[in-house]
Amino acid sequence: MFAKKILLGLFVVFFVACKEQNTMNITSPDTNIEVRCNINEKGAFYYQVLRQNKTIIDKSSLGFSLENTPDLRDNFKVINTATTSFSEKWRMVWGEQEEVENTYQELTINLQEQSGLERKLTVVFRVYNDGIGFRYEFPKQKNMDEVLIAEELTEFQLPEDTKTWWTPGDWEIYEHLYRSTLFSKINAFEKEKQPLAQTYIPHNAVNTPVTMKMKNGIHLSFHEAALVGYSGMTLKVDTTHLKMTSCLVGSQRTTYKVKRNVPFHTPWRTIQIAEKATDLIDSKLIVNLNEPNKLGNISWFQPTKYTGIWWDMHLGRKMWDFASGKHGATTDYAKKMIDFSAKNNIKALLVEGWNTGWEEWVAANRDGIFDFVTPYPDYNLKEVVAYGRKKGVRLIMHHETSGDVVTYNKQQDTAFTLMKKLGIHAVKTGYVGTLLPKGEYHHGQFMVNHYNDTYSKAAQYQIAINAHEPIKATGLRRTYPNMISREGLRGQEFNAWAMDGGNPPEHLSIVAFTRMLAGPIDFTPGIFDIKFNKYKKENQVNTTLAHQLALYVVIYSPIQMVPDLIENYEQKPDAFQFIKDVGVNWKVTKVLNGEVGDFVTIARKERETDNWFVGGITDENQRVIHIDFDFLDKNSTYEAKFYVDGENAHWDKNPTDIKIFNERVSSKTHKKIRLAAGGGFAISLKKIQ
Ligand code: NOJ
Ligand code: CA
Repeated sequence: MFAKKILLGLFVVFFVACKEQNTMNITSPDTNIEVRCNINEKGAFYYQVLRQNKTIIDKSSLGFSLENTPDLRDNFKVINTATTSFSEKWRMVWGEQEEVENTYQELTINLQEQSGLERKLTVVFRVYNDGIGFRYEFPKQKNMDEVLIAEELTEFQLPEDTKTWWTPGDWEIYEHLYRSTLFSKINAFEKEKQPLAQTYIPHNAVNTPVTMKMKNGIHLSFHEAALVGYSGMTLKVDTTHLKMTSCLVGSQRTTYKVKRNVPFHTPWRTIQIAEKATDLIDSKLIVNLNEPNKLGNISWFQPTKYTGIWWDMHLGRKMWDFASGKHGATTDYAKKMIDFSAKNNIKALLVEGWNTGWEEWVAANRDGIFDFVTPYPDYNLKEVVAYGRKKGVRLIMHHETSGDVVTYNKQQDTAFTLMKKLGIHAVKTGYVGTLLPKGEYHHGQFMVNHYNDTYSKAAQYQIAINAHEPIKATGLRRTYPNMISREGLRGQEFNAWAMDGGNPPEHLSIVAFTRMLAGPIDFTPGIFDIKFNKYKKENQVNTTLAHQLALYVVIYSPIQMVPDLIENYEQKPDAFQFIKDVGVNWKVTKVLNGEVGDFVTIARKERETDNWFVGGITDENQRVIHIDFDFLDKNSTYEAKFYVDGENAHWDKNPTDIKIFNERVSSKTHKKIRLAAGGGFAISLKKIQ
C-alpha cells in the first residue's frame, strides 16, 4: 500500500486577458481550508487563506526585490493555472509513526510580466487538511538566467492580534527562550540575561516555527519546508498592521541574500492550521512537503539511546581540554561509560573533547585548531571503539568546528574516512561561535549549503548527523534520513550554566508546539540530580524528576541521550528503569492532550515491541490530567508502570519526590493523574495478553 500515488486530476485553464481576473482558488481535500488568489490593479499577485470561510490570512502579496534588475512584485498577468490532486502513503524509515498520509490539492499559477522584460514566475500552492505550503518557481526563460535576491517579499497578513509564541529572528542562533505575547507586543530587541556565543538580531523579527492561537481557538504555526540552496527565512513583524513579511538571512560578504541560477524554486512557505493545539503536533505537513527518501536503505543507522562524556563538562566536574587537568575524554572513563551503557540497554556513547585543539576552541585565533582525527594522549580512540564493539555499544563521533567552517570543509573527507574505517556511523557536529569565513551567519545561504553538503557527504560514508548550532529542521529528514537529529533550541545544557536561571518549567510545553513541529530535537532529557549542588549551587533543572522521564516520550528524536552522571542513575535504579525500557522508534504517536505553554501528554507505540509509552508534562502550574487508555490494542491487558510526581513534589522545593507503582490496564481504563508544579509523569505499558 505504501507510496501509492493517485493523480486525481489535472485541469489547465488559459487566460487571455487579465485585467478583471476571476479569483483563482483551491481547497483542502476536506474542503475546510481554502486558498484564494488574484492580481490587483497594479498587477501584484496576492493570496488569502480561509478556514471554514473565516479568514486565517488576509490579502497578502508575494514577490521579490532583486539586485541589478527591476523587482518582481507587480505588473503581472496570469498566463495559465493548473490544479491537481495527489494522495499517497509513505513509510518513515524511522520516526514518530510508521505510515504517513500525504494528500493534498495543488494550484499552480504561471505569471508573466505584462511589459518590459516579460519575466516569468510561477507560484504553487499545496493545500492539505492540516495547512498549506506554497513556493515560488523560477522557470527557464530568456530574460533571466541568474537571480540575485535582495529580499523575498512574502507577506502574511494576520486578521487579528493573536497570542504568539516566538523567539527573536536571530541570524546566528535559535537558543533564545520562547516568549508568549500578543503579536502586537513582539519586541525582538528586548534584552535577555543570558549572553549567547553568537547572536545577531537586525530587525524586529521572529524565527520559525512561530506558533499562534487565534481568538476562535484555531492554532497556526508558520515555518518552511525543504530549505535547500537558499537562506533561512525570518519573519519581520509589523506590530501596527499585524503583518509578517519574509526577511531572509543575509551575509556581510554579499549585498544580496540569495544567488541562484534559473531554473530553481524556493523552499515551501508553510502554515500549519489546527483546530486545537494537539493537532499541530499530529500534523505531518513539513515532512510531506519534502521529497521521498533519496538514500534508500540506511540500516547502518538504528535509532538509539546514548550516554555521553558530556554533562560532566557542562557541570564543570571535567573539561573538554587536556590542559585543564580535568580532561574528561580518557580511555578509562570511556570504558566505564561503555560498561554502564551495555548493562542498561543503551547502545551508543558520545565522547566530547577527545581530539586535540580544545585549549583554543573559543579563542579568536581558532582557525585550523581542530583536525578531527588526532586524539589527546590519554584517549585511545581505536581501543575505545574495539571495547565498545565487544560490548555492543557504538561510538558517536564528535566534531566541534567552533564555527570554523573553512577548516571543517577541508578536513571532512579525512575525518569521515577515519570514522568509516572504525565503523562509526554517527557524528554530533557543532558550530559554536561566529563563523569563519568571517561575515557569514549560521542561517544564511552559505551555511544552508554547508549543512546540506555535509549531510550529503556524510551519507556517502554511511554517516548520520546530529547537528548542534544547526540550521533549522525543515523536514529534509524524509529525503535524507541520515539527518537524524539536531539542537536548534535552548537545550538542557542551559540548566547547567545559564545566568538567567535556566529553562523555566514551561519551556518544553512551549517547545512541543513550536520548535518540535520542525523536526527531531537533541534536547538531552533525563537529568536525575536536579539540583547538582555539589557542582553548581546557583543552577538547577527547573522540573521534577518525573517530568525528566516524561521527556523521553514527549520530545521526539531517534537518538535520545541519557546524559547524567553514572552515580546519579545508580542512586535511583527504580526511576532509571523507565529510561532502560523506553523506546526510541515509533509505530504510532497519539497526542492525548495539551495547550501551548501549559501542558502536553503524548503516547507512542514502540515499533519493534508494540509496547506503549506515555509522557506528560506541565508548566509551573500543578494540574490533574485525565487519561483515557483507549489508544491501547482492544481486548488486551497491559502491565503498566507509572512514574508520577510524589505528593510533595515541586520543581524547586522537592523535585525528586516520585511515586512508582504497577497496575494492570486495558483500553477501557481511565485514570486521573496529578502533576506537580513543574512536574510530569511517565508510563510504560507492556502487553501481557
Ligand atoms: C554546544 C553544544 O550544544 C554542546 O552540546 C556541546 O557540548 C558544546 N557545544 C561543545 O561542543
Ligand atoms: Ca503556561
